[in-house]
This record gives sequence, structure tokens and C-alpha cells, in this order.
Amino acid sequence: MKDEQVLKDLHAFMQSKGFVYGPFPEIYNGVSGFYAYGPLGKLLKNKVENSVRSLFFSNGFRELECPTVLPDIVWEASGHLNTFVDKTIECSKCKSIFRVDKLIEEFSNKDTVGMSDKDLLAVVKKEKISCPSCKGAFKEEITAYNLMMKTEVAGKPFSLRPETATVTYLPFKRLNEYFRKLPFAVFQIGKAYRNEISPRQHLLRLREFTQAEAQLFIDPKEKNNWEKYEGIKKEKLPLYTSHQQEKQLKIETLSLDDAIKHKHIKSKAYAWCLHLAYKQFLSMGIPANKIRIRQHLENERAFYADDAWDIEINLNTFGWTECCGVHDRTDYDLKKHAEFSKQKLEAVRDNGEKYIPHILEIAFGTDRPCFALMDIFYEKKEEGEGKTMFKLPYNIAPIDIAVFPLMKKDGLPDYAEHIKQLLERDFIVDYDESGTIGKRYLRAAESGTAYAITIDYDSLKNKDVTIRDRDSEHQIRIKETELKEAIRKLLSGEMAFPQKA
Ligand code: GLY
Repeated sequence: MKDEQVLKDLHAFMQSKGFVYGPFPEIYNGVSGFYAYGPLGKLLKNKVENSVRSLFFSNGFRELECPTVLPDIVWEASGHLNTFVDKTIECSKCKSIFRVDKLIEEFSNKDTVGMSDKDLLAVVKKEKISCPSCKGAFKEEITAYNLMMKTEVAGKPFSLRPETATVTYLPFKRLNEYFRKLPFAVFQIGKAYRNEISPRQHLLRLREFTQAEAQLFIDPKEKNNWEKYEGIKKEKLPLYTSHQQEKQLKIETLSLDDAIKHKHIKSKAYAWCLHLAYKQFLSMGIPANKIRIRQHLENERAFYADDAWDIEINLNTFGWTECCGVHDRTDYDLKKHAEFSKQKLEAVRDNGEKYIPHILEIAFGTDRPCFALMDIFYEKKEEGEGKTMFKLPYNIAPIDIAVFPLMKKDGLPDYAEHIKQLLERDFIVDYDESGTIGKRYLRAAESGTAYAITIDYDSLKNKDVTIRDRDSEHQIRIKETELKEAIRKLLSGEMAFPQKA
């Protein structure tokens, strides 16, 4: 972790402002890896998910919702039952178990990718890493720990899904019928479960979390004949190739065309997916200078992945953090499910040739982006240093508008209530009449609320209100009749906030 105090402050901010509560359930001591979203946190998460939906829809994807609990044969086929494991080490004194790779990364900053059990144990010994709970010595043994959460349905073994991806592949035949021809693209936003070992990274490592995974089903022959690539090939992305990592060079901003030419990226369809994944994070409001796209090194690529890059975000708390994986999963999944289900999972080319489609996957979740937005945009100020701010982009602010009557008398609250009702079917609106107007502006700014509307005595006479911009603190007067449209334009960025009162 980069800075423990920053995480403590951020956590306190999230709890006190109603963003995130936990570990959950707090009144029963809480269990690590479980967190709840409070009223503001859930609004933020909705905005993030709406942004994800809107970008996928506008790029030709359709959404599915499949079950989260499935019979174990599915997970045998996908490989999760046997191979979805983390390597753990146990404290010989207090018996706590820890993920050995995370422990080493935390205490010695060493990269453990590709290390054998013997190497891992040697590092623990050499670096004198002891149990973070009781300082006891670790047993000299590495144990594989399966991350699947198991349950039973009708007396049969079932598991909770550890990813949405596998479940999206199961209705392939139905989807093929629906879309009539390949390529087609679908996504799911939904819960997934992993029995993580002692997770201590807040929303970044949860035992129950929300994934947003998109799958492009494509004829392998079409991977380098991808028309949509033409429109984006000149765009430059902050690519961090395996070559740059090995040589410890800086991130390079490279056009996709150059990346393809130099064989950093294997196919045009994959390059398009990588670009779309990057756009997802920009659309959610993550600043471009906080993002890099890192190619997996040979020894860290999943066994099914032919090409794999991660989108990483530079956090104040945890440094560079993986927030999305883009994988070329080839025909691995459909082949496996065909074998285990004894069904044909094939598509047919125009010339009648049968083939197994390949799958390109954009895999991310919505909890990490929410954490990243809070991490990046929360600015704590000490006493006397000005106000604490939460300056996240206006279009992703949990609350769009706060409505304040200047005073709690003389008909001002009635008119404010009328304005609130006028807006609340189109926007997320807060109403606050307690305390001084200055305190109310401050509370709204700390919650990230984009605009504050104040109803004063002139409002009653002229049927107008003032709108105050969160960041510049400038105010303009606006007629009630023009209010809705003005707010829509301001929030969408169609209109800049006038800088003169
Ligand atoms: N579907 C890939 C993942 O869950 O990481």
C-alpha cells in the first residue's frame, strides 16, 4: 500500500458521508471482504453502471442477466473447480492464513509473478516476513486454496459464480439464434463471489462484488478484418508493453496502428476491445493521466488467454491497481463447454463451413471504479486550510442538485419544495433547509453535489432561482421555466457554467 493514512482518511470520509459502510455487518464485528453502499455510494455506483451500459449499448452490445448459482459441472468445464486457487501460507502461532504473493508484495515490494512454491518460501524466509496479525513465524509450506464459494441446490453441489464471463457463454446457442450471425457482443453487470483469503484492500478485493464483463463472439478469421478498427486506429493509448516493462522503460503513448504494426497487439478486433475498455474508464470520469494499459508478461497470462492487457489506475492509496482485463480467450471456453455438455457450440460461415467462435473479453467490475473515483477526487483539508472537497466530474456526481430555501419561513420552503418536485423525476435532488446557507453549500460540496439551487425572496416575486456551481462557486439566476433544460445542459457538458454572476 502506498499510504495507510490516506486510506484511513478516505475510509472515514466514505463512512461519514454515506458512501460505503463496512466491513459488513458492522454491528456483528464485520467480515472482511464485505462492504455495503450507503445512499450516496449507491447513487455513485448507479452512475458508474449507467455510464458502462450507455457506452456498451452505443457500441452494439446487448445486456444479459443470468443466474449467479450454477451446478458444479459448469465450473469443472470452465476449470475454476480445479485451478481457481491462490497460494496461501499459515501462521504457526495464530493459524491465520494469508495469500503469500500479496504478503510478499506488501512487505518487500517484490514482484512474485511466476514464482514457484520453493521461491515464494525462500523470499518469506529471506525477507523475515512474519504474521501481520500476531508476528508469529510462518509454516514452511504453501497450500493451494480454492476461491469458489460452495453451496447445495436440491442436494447437489453448486457454486456461486466467481465471474460473469463463464455464465455468459452458456446460452451461446440461444444467442446465436437471436443475433442470427456473428460477430455479436453481449455483457452482464452482476454479482460474483470469491472466497478471498483475508482481503484487506477495501472495495478493491471483495468476497462479493459486482462485475461488468463484455464478450465479443467472433469468427477467428475476422479478427484482423474488423471494420470498426478503421475508425479508431489512429487513436493514441497509454500502452505499457511487456518489452517496456522488461527494460524498465516509461509508458509510451502509442497509436493502435503502431501497436499492431509492431506486433504488440495481435489483432485489430482485440485492439478495438482495448480501446473500448479504455473509453469505459474515461467515460466514468477517471482522468487520462491516471490510466495506463499494461500488457501481461508471458508468465502472468491466464492459461486460456492468447493476448492479455490490464487497465490500471494510479490510486493515492494503493498505487497502480488493476481495474480491467482484456483477454483474447480464443475458442477455449466454447470448446470446454461443448465437451462437458456434449452439445455442439458452433457457428456456420456463409460457405457452410462450421467453426468454433473465439471470444474477446473486456472484464472489469464496478466496485473498483467507484473506489478509484473516491480515491482520486476526495481532497481532505485540515482545520483552517479551506474546505474538504469531493470534486468528481459533474456527470458522475451522486447528487445532481441540492435545493435550499434561504430561510425556513415566509413561503420560501414551499417554493423550494415546488422546485424540488419539478426536478426530481429527471435528476437526483437533495433538499436541505437546516443550518446556515454557507454550511449547506459546504455539506453539498463535500458530497460532490454538482449544483446548488437557492430560493430567496426575489424567487417568490420573479419565479426564478439561483444556481451555484460547485467548483467555481459562481452563481447565476435562472427562470423556473428554463431550469430543467439548463441543468440538463450543464450536467451533460453541453453548456459551460457562465463565469459572471
Ligand atoms: N472473467 C475474467 C475475470 O473474472 O477476471
